[in-house]
Amino acid sequence: MKTVLVTGGLGFIGSHTVVELIGRGYRVVVADNLTNTRADVLDRIATITGTAPVWANVDLADPVACGALLAGHPELDGVIHFAAHKAVGESVQKPLAYYHNNFGSLVNLLRFVAERPRCGFIFSSSCTVYGQADTLPIREDAPVKPAESPYGNTKQVGEEILRDAARAHGLKAIALRYFNPIGAHPSAKIGELPLGVPQNLVPFLTQSAAGLRGALKVFGNDYPTRDGTCIRDYIHVVDVALAHIYALERLLAGKGEQPVEVFNLGTGTGSTVLEVIQAFERATGVKLAYEFAPRRPGDVVAAYADTERAARLLGWRAERSLDTAMADAWRWQQSLPKA
Ligand code: UD1
Repeated sequence: MKTVLVTGGLGFIGSHTVVELIGRGYRVVVADNLTNTRADVLDRIATITGTAPVWANVDLADPVACGALLAGHPELDGVIHFAAHKAVGESVQKPLAYYHNNFGSLVNLLRFVAERPRCGFIFSSSCTVYGQADTLPIREDAPVKPAESPYGNTKQVGEEILRDAARAHGLKAIALRYFNPIGAHPSAKIGELPLGVPQNLVPFLTQSAAGLRGALKVFGNDYPTRDGTCIRDYIHVVDVALAHIYALERLLAGKGEQPVEVFNLGTGTGSTVLEVIQAFERATGVKLAYEFAPRRPGDVVAAYADTERAARLLGWRAERSLDTAMADAWRWQQSLPKA
């Protein structure tokens, strides 16, 4: 049985990945200090899978605590590193907290992996590294554009840290650049738990539909797109989770061709904000109140993935539709307390 450390394993994408790993017979060790989630996610994972993963409540940016955790698990075959701060706006207010946490945890984990090059390493990156790409769909060799926020910078520099460490220490690693993960587990037992007012489209939309927020504000309707609203590549979180397992299996099979390989995780299809709203209404039968509002600073016009590389080298493709993702997100929202 192979053992995988999943950092941030109680978070949105992490928890879905833990479920899929357990379902495929992996033994999972979760490291999560509940910065942006709740301990009962562990019970929910156990309800879905019938297995409670080992959980360590550890601040990975603390080198002593991180070192102790890793020393206690010499059996690891892989590390999937999700744990990171991820709010764009907050990162502008608290850049040092973002750099301390996101770089500290990455460096501490890599120090361990550097001593055990057999251990595969998967890093959560983001399509934010492309900024407004010059060509669509976006291929992995598109240039990395200057980061718009400290959060975005932690993803760009995180990839560089990974590349330097992999070259120097003979590691095998993969960086996965997520487009827009949405949806929830079909059981509605796990999903996204944004603190406060959601900044991302789909959690705001479902909370708005549930009557917890005002009307959804659509940021900008004068973009040069088919209906004037921004285009993104929304991908079901279960598809994103599965891609991590394909990536890990590529590393464990010794198939990695470079010290760090980079893959886009998207569907390849861009949807406008209005198309997302239509998909929600179609999938749930619920009518959504929305209004147009000014553009949000920092938003790019359009981003969607070229998925050929992931299909060819990982053998992975997103399979779940936007409508399925909206239905699952809505079922999850309805399972949450009304307050
Ligand atoms: C955002 C971040 C990105 C980060 C990702 C993580 C910004 C500028 N980008 O991506 O760096 O990696 O989250 O999840 O913050 N929208 C509305 N009304 C809303 C919310 C969003 O119209 O209330 C629109 C946005 O203008 C955008 C689309 O919905 O066109 C998607 O927005 P969002 O879910 O925040 O994702 P990104 O901006 O793509």
